[in-house]
Amino acid sequence: MRTVVLVYSGGLDTSLCIPLMRQEYHFDHVVTVTVDVGQPAEDIRQAEQKAQAMGTEHYTVDAKEEFVREYIFPAIRANGDYEGYPLSTAIARPLIAAKAVEVARKVGATAYGHGCTGKGNDQFRLEYIMRTLTPNLQIVAPMREGRLLPDGKREPWTRSEEIQYCQEHGVPISQTVKKIWSIDENLWGRSIEGGRLEEPDFMPPDEIFQWTCSPADTLEEPQLLQIGFTNGVPTSVDDREMAPLDLIKSLHQIAGQHGVGRVDVMEDRMLGLKVRENYECPAAAVLLPAHRALEALVCTREELRFKALVDRQWGELAYHGLWLDPLKEDLEAFIAHIQTRVTGAVTMRLFKGGASVVGRSSDWALYSEDLASFDSKTFDQSESIGNVKTHGMQSRMYWLLKSGRSNSS
Ligand code: ARG
Repeated sequence: MRTVVLVYSGGLDTSLCIPLMRQEYHFDHVVTVTVDVGQPAEDIRQAEQKAQAMGTEHYTVDAKEEFVREYIFPAIRANGDYEGYPLSTAIARPLIAAKAVEVARKVGATAYGHGCTGKGNDQFRLEYIMRTLTPNLQIVAPMREGRLLPDGKREPWTRSEEIQYCQEHGVPISQTVKKIWSIDENLWGRSIEGGRLEEPDFMPPDEIFQWTCSPADTLEEPQLLQIGFTNGVPTSVDDREMAPLDLIKSLHQIAGQHGVGRVDVMEDRMLGLKVRENYECPAAAVLLPAHRALEALVCTREELRFKALVDRQWGELAYHGLWLDPLKEDLEAFIAHIQTRVTGAVTMRLFKGGASVVGRSSDWALYSEDLASFDSKTFDQSESIGNVKTHGMQSRMYWLLKSGRSNSS
């Protein structure tokens, strides 16, 4: 028996994949997997209902806790960022694929199916994990392959063709048809694409945002928020210890009221396409600057410079979905070692769309008020004289030579 495990969101594309798997790809048995990484409960419920209506063997896997602990927290420790994007969609993909692999093993599948197009990054991220963990399984991507024409050729699906195919093949489409925006949502953020947002100079309308207030409607008073970190991960808010999942959710809520976390970037996709992306990531907009501020307090200058390189490389690996790459393990070994000192607290001020660092403290602070203060005599300033004299020596020599040459010519 040929069994396919389809990574299933319940949306139009992946729903269309179900009859396609049966009729065009000739699978005997379609198994659908929806991985809960914090998308709206309504989406999960809809996926379950549609799967049932279409008679697939369906699995919903709750991976929220694992997503926070094993994906979001490592991203915070690595100051996870790609061109200004906190990697929310990117880091969820390896986890979704890993859960599909678990189901595939359980049901003895011969293949995977996914609804990614051939233009985006997700096809790379999902297939890399599937191929790494189960090298012998086939992978089919009907959206990427396109619609089969009577002459055997294929062409990309248009939205109206998709809807027509669904209507002809008993795929429930009720609520998916009207949607203008393509939205991917999880615990670390929302990604919004499509429609006029594809025009780089089209201002994002307020309606695309769901977690953040528009700047005009934010609270009139600034709010101070103290984030406590232990070994580089957030563990408390305003001195209240919080479980990882609760902490992230509560920060979305608090920062969202201040309009914090809207990101609008031009992004360089893996295939080289430049695309306009909008993100809504309130918790990340608070936690990433806070984490960086704490590192700035406890790490040496040389560590900070080196870690910036490590972080950048980590961000790129995460964007590319290379979650099981040995380099990622190597980078994380360094990060884990340095994070043992990233323990302390950072005070953030949230106001009118901005989150700024206004205070930091740690037992590991490499800071001595006695040395740095204007009012202290501990630092012997006369010792600077020699250092200052030799400062820029080579540079000054260059200028001497240069002016000598230009005088003589
Ligand atoms: N460009 C982002 C990434 O590759 C987000 C993609 C979001 N997908 C979506 N359907 N809105 O990680």
